[in-house]
Amino acid sequence: TPSAPPAREPLTELPITRPEGCPFAPPAELAELREEAPLRRMRYPDGHLGWLATGYSVARAVAADRRFSSRYELMHMPFPGMAAAELPPATVGDLTGIDPPHHTRYRRLLMGKFTVRRMRELTSRVEQITAEHLDAMERQGPQVDLVKAFAHPVPALMICELLGVPYTDRARFQQHAMTASSTEGSVEDQYAAMAALQEFVGELVLAKRARPTDDLLSDLTGTDLTDEELAGLGSFLLGAGLDTTSNMLSLGTFALLTHPDQADALRADPGLAEQAVEELMRYLTIAHTGVRAALEDIELDGQSIRAGESVTVSLQAANRDPERFPDPDRLDLRRKATGHLAFGHGIHQCLGQQLARVEMRVAFPALLTRFPTLRLAVPPHEVPLRNDLSMHGVQRLPVTWDAA
Ligand code: HEM
Repeated sequence: TPSAPPAREPLTELPITRPEGCPFAPPAELAELREEAPLRRMRYPDGHLGWLATGYSVARAVAADRRFSSRYELMHMPFPGMAAAELPPATVGDLTGIDPPHHTRYRRLLMGKFTVRRMRELTSRVEQITAEHLDAMERQGPQVDLVKAFAHPVPALMICELLGVPYTDRARFQQHAMTASSTEGSVEDQYAAMAALQEFVGELVLAKRARPTDDLLSDLTGTDLTDEELAGLGSFLLGAGLDTTSNMLSLGTFALLTHPDQADALRADPGLAEQAVEELMRYLTIAHTGVRAALEDIELDGQSIRAGESVTVSLQAANRDPERFPDPDRLDLRRKATGHLAFGHGIHQCLGQQLARVEMRVAFPALLTRFPTLRLAVPPHEVPLRNDLSMHGVQRLPVTWDAA
C-alpha cells in the first residue's frame, strides 16, 4: 500500500492521553498520526530523534525484522519520566530484552516445556479454579470487587501451578512482580523489584533441585541452565503471567458490561468464546507499546531508519488500523480479529499466550453465564483505571448482580 508522505516536523512526544470518557480508546492523536504517516519521526524525552510506528503493516514488519534489536541498552524509551535513564542490559532470564542467539537458546528450552499434556491439564485446572472463585463470589456477594475476587487470583494461581511456586507465598512476590512490570516507579525501582523476585525464585530453584515436583521449574532443573538462569527465567515468567491476564480479565469484563449486546451474544453462544477473546485482546491491547533499536540502516515504508535509532511500535494504534480491521473502534465479538498484535509478533511473541487464551476462554463465558444480571456497581467513569503508560487495566471493578 502507498504510504502517506512523511510529516516534516517530528512529533515531540508520544501521545498518552485517552479521550475523555472513553476508558478503552487509545489516544485520539494516534489515529491522526497513522493516517498521516504510519511510520514517522518522533523526538524522545531524552532528546533522541527516533520513530513511531502506528500502522498495522509497518508495526508488524518492525516486530518481524531481525535487523531490529530488543536489547534494552540500545534503546531510547518513549515514556516521559524515563527520560534521563539509560537502561542497563536485561537481567538474566528477561527474554524480552535480549536478541538471538541467547534469546533462541532460552526460548527453545522453554517451548519444550509448554507441552500439550501440560496445557491440557491446565485447561481442566482453569475450569476448576474458575468455578471455585465464582462460588466464593456468590457467597460473598451480591457486590464484589471483581479484580480481588476473580480477575487477579485466577491467573495468579494458574501461573503458580504451572511454575510450581507455592501460592501461599504470594505476599513475598506479588508486590515485586507488580513493581517490576510497571512504568509508574523509577527504573531503579523496577530493577530492585526484579532482584527481589529473583532471590525468592532462587530459593525455590534450590528446593526443586533437591526434591523435584511435577511443574515447569522442576522440569527446567533437568536442563543445562544454571541456578542463576533458572531463577531469572522463573521470576520473569512469574511476573509475566501474574499481571497481564489479570488485567485482561478485569478490563475485558468492564468492556463487556458496558457493551451489553456483546455480553449477551457471548452468554447465548459460549462457542463464540474463542473469537471473542481475540477481539477483546485486539480492542483492549493492554500492552500498549514495544520498542526496538535498529542494528543497521533499514529502508522501511519509504523511510530510512539509521542504525542506532529507536522505533516505538504502538500496538494499540496498529490494532485499530482500519486497513486491517474495518470499523476498528467497534467492539464486535463476531469479527475475525486473529492476526492482532496484542501478544506481540515475531521472535518475542508472547510465550504464555496459550495459557492466557485458555484462562480467558474459560473465564469470560463462565462469569457471564453464572451471573446473568452482572453489572457495574458504579457509573463507568468512576471505575479507577490504572495509571500506567505501558499496561492498561483497572485498579478495581465494583460489580453487582441480583441475588437469587
Ligand atoms: C511476551 C502480552 C500473558 C509470558 C509478551 C509480549 C506481549 C505480551 C505484547 C511481547 C513483548 C515484546 O515483544 O517485547 C501478553 C498479554 C497477556 C500475556 C496481553 C495476557 C493476556 C502471558 C502469560 C505468560 C507470558 C500468562 C506466562 C506464562 C511471556 C513471556 C514473554 C512474553 C515469557 C517474552 C517472550 C520473548 O521475549 O521471547 N507478552 N502476555 N505472557 N510473554 Fe506475554
